[in-house]
Amino acid sequence: MNSYRKDFPIFEGNNVCYFDNAATSQRPKEVFEAMEKFNNECNANPLRGLYDWSVRATEAYENARHTVATFIGAKRDCEIVFTRNTTESLNLVAYSYGLSKIHEGDEIVISIMEHHSNQLPWRMVAEKTGAKIVWLECTKEGKITEEEYKSKITDRTKIVAITQVSNVLGITNPVRAIADYAHSKGAVVVVDGAQSTPHMPVNVQDMGADFFAFSGHKLMAPMGIGALYGRIELLDEMPPFLTGGEMIESVSRDSVTYAPVPEKFEAGTVNAMGAVGLEAAIKYIQSIGFDEITETEKRLTERLISKLHELPEVTIYGPTDPDDHCGIVAFNIDGCHPHDVASVLDSEHICIRAGHHCAQPLLQYLGVSSTARASLYFYNTEEEVDRFAEAVSHVRGWMGY
Ligand code: ALA
Repeated sequence: MNSYRKDFPIFEGNNVCYFDNAATSQRPKEVFEAMEKFNNECNANPLRGLYDWSVRATEAYENARHTVATFIGAKRDCEIVFTRNTTESLNLVAYSYGLSKIHEGDEIVISIMEHHSNQLPWRMVAEKTGAKIVWLECTKEGKITEEEYKSKITDRTKIVAITQVSNVLGITNPVRAIADYAHSKGAVVVVDGAQSTPHMPVNVQDMGADFFAFSGHKLMAPMGIGALYGRIELLDEMPPFLTGGEMIESVSRDSVTYAPVPEKFEAGTVNAMGAVGLEAAIKYIQSIGFDEITETEKRLTERLISKLHELPEVTIYGPTDPDDHCGIVAFNIDGCHPHDVASVLDSEHICIRAGHHCAQPLLQYLGVSSTARASLYFYNTEEEVDRFAEAVSHVRGWMGY
């Protein structure tokens, strides 16, 4: 057992091997403690009340925004909009920026490995505006070549939608190079950071993101809190996505003036306790440090892949170098449906995901309808990797092959 597992209440008293971290991560006690403190000491509706609890709830919420801004390298706190998750962040950009700025004949470049969340909002924009979707292809290992993006991004491109890390292949895309080229053509770059933010230092300015989305729950915060980073110049010009309480400056029978960002994009009562949990998760990550997180994940991933390579019935998808997997290993076992693989492993208390991983165009390109997927985090252990590989080696036998 490594020293981190004990920080997570869910692992107490069991031997569950949790390898579905790309779907959602577990939460350390620090996150629950921070939320409990908020709940017990100042739970009130933030941004509204003039009494002490509400003022402190507002402070807690805005402190969380500052922590997020610093964590991902935003220039200003107001460039962070709290949302429910990556999907909502990306829909906000598509509905607000996309529908107001994209026109017939414009092109939207989407990588083939995008999660449906950074794909379907743009396809909606294309349908409503008459813009064209252009697919950025990758190699079977997941590499998007310079030749490919330079041939697809043109003066007609208005949006480039790209994931920093693929949730199926685990590969990290050359976002900075793609963003530089996209900017030279006048396009805006929308980065899905759902799978990168929990595992590596992220700096939205260094990577050249105009918009960057991530979810709290994949980095040990609760479900239901996420964030959108947007360059202030862009957010300022965008119309609201949702309208209602707290996102206005004034309303009369005949007119509405919207609040400045980020309030303009945070209609209704906000998830302040979730934001506090997200801040605690970020601080927990910072207390460990990304050097340690990345190093541990690399060691575990190398071990897992080398053990799967010993099994001739197993096909692994994605990069050949284990270091390029970001802890994500999609695989299939000859003759076994991935759902059966996941069920068999579940009987050994091993949790993995099986299916199309909300990335169907990528799976179609890979020539499979679904895969099994193990995804690691730094709190996993060598013993778990060994147990997992041992169980995988028995799956065919246990299924009667
Ligand atoms: N997007 C998450 C995954 O890949 C849910 O599993």
